[in-house]
Amino acid sequence: MNRIGIVLCGGVGSRLGQITKAIPKSLVPVYNKPLVDYQLELFDYLGIRDIIIITRPDTYDLFTNYLLKDSNWVERFDNIKILEQKTPGGIAQAYQIVYNHVPEGASTLLGLGDNIFYFTDENEKQKLKQWCDIRTNFITTISVKDPRPYGVVKFVENADVILDVVEKPKDPPSNEIIPGLYFFDYSVFEKAKNLQPSPRGELEITDVQKLYINEGKLAAFRFKSVFWYDCGTIQDLLDANNFMHIMED
Ligand code: DAU
Repeated sequence: MNRIGIVLCGGVGSRLGQITKAIPKSLVPVYNKPLVDYQLELFDYLGIRDIIIITRPDTYDLFTNYLLKDSNWVERFDNIKILEQKTPGGIAQAYQIVYNHVPEGASTLLGLGDNIFYFTDENEKQKLKQWCDIRTNFITTISVKDPRPYGVVKFVENADVILDVVEKPKDPPSNEIIPGLYFFDYSVFEKAKNLQPSPRGELEITDVQKLYINEGKLAAFRFKSVFWYDCGTIQDLLDANNFMHIMED
C-alpha cells in the first residue's frame, strides 16, 4: 500500500505566547529534542517512508534547515518534502495543500506537529502498526478528564462503533477524544475539496471524519495506555517536558 505521512507544523501557536514569537511550535524543544521529532519517530516506527511537512511561509527555512540539513531525518526516510500553508485555514486544509504531491490511490497518515504519543505498552504500539499496515479510515481515541478542548467521539453504547464526532463540545458526549493522528484513504482528497469553513473559520478535521462516518467507514483505534500530550499551552508544554524527562532519563 502506498502511504504518505503528513505532519502539520503550521498554525500560529498563540497560546504559547512569547515562545512562538521566537520559534515555531513544532521546533520548540520538549526535553532533549524538537516537538516535531516525536511525530516523526512514530511515523518511522509505523513504516511510513515518504513525509510531507507543512509549515507557515515565514518558518519554511527553519524547517528546511533542521529537517533536511541539521538532523538525520533525511537518512531515516526515503523522501521529505516541505510545503507551505499560506494562512492557517484549518487542519483539513492540509489535504488540499498536499493533493498534487500524493500519488493517485495513496493513503495518508496525518499527524499534528504539536502532539506526542509515548507508549508504555509495546503490544499497543505493535497493534497500532498492524492497523496502519492493513487498514485505512481510522482515527485514534483516548480517554481524558476534560474533553471539551478537543474533537470528541460519540460511540454506540458498549461498542466501538462511532456514531458521531463533535469539535470542542460544551457538553461532551463522552470522555473519548481524538488526538492528532488520522489515517485516511485517497477519497479524503475529494472530501476535503468540498469542505466549508466552520464558525471559527477553519476547515475542520472533524468534518472530514463526519463524511467517513456517513459512509459507515470510520473506525476507532482506542488507546488504553498511551501517554498523549497536545503541547498547545504553556502548562501542556511544561507537563510534556517533565514527563519526557522522567521517562527518558
Ligand atoms: O490535538 C488534538 C486536537 O487537534 C483534535 O482533538 C481536534 O479535533 C483538532 O481540531 C485539533 O484541535 P486544536 O484546536 O487543538 O488544533 P490546533 O489549532 O492547536 O492545531 C493543531 C496543530 O495543527 C498545531 O500544531 C498547529 C497545526 N495547524 C493548525 C491549523 C489550524 C496548522 O499547521 N495549520 C492550521 O491551519
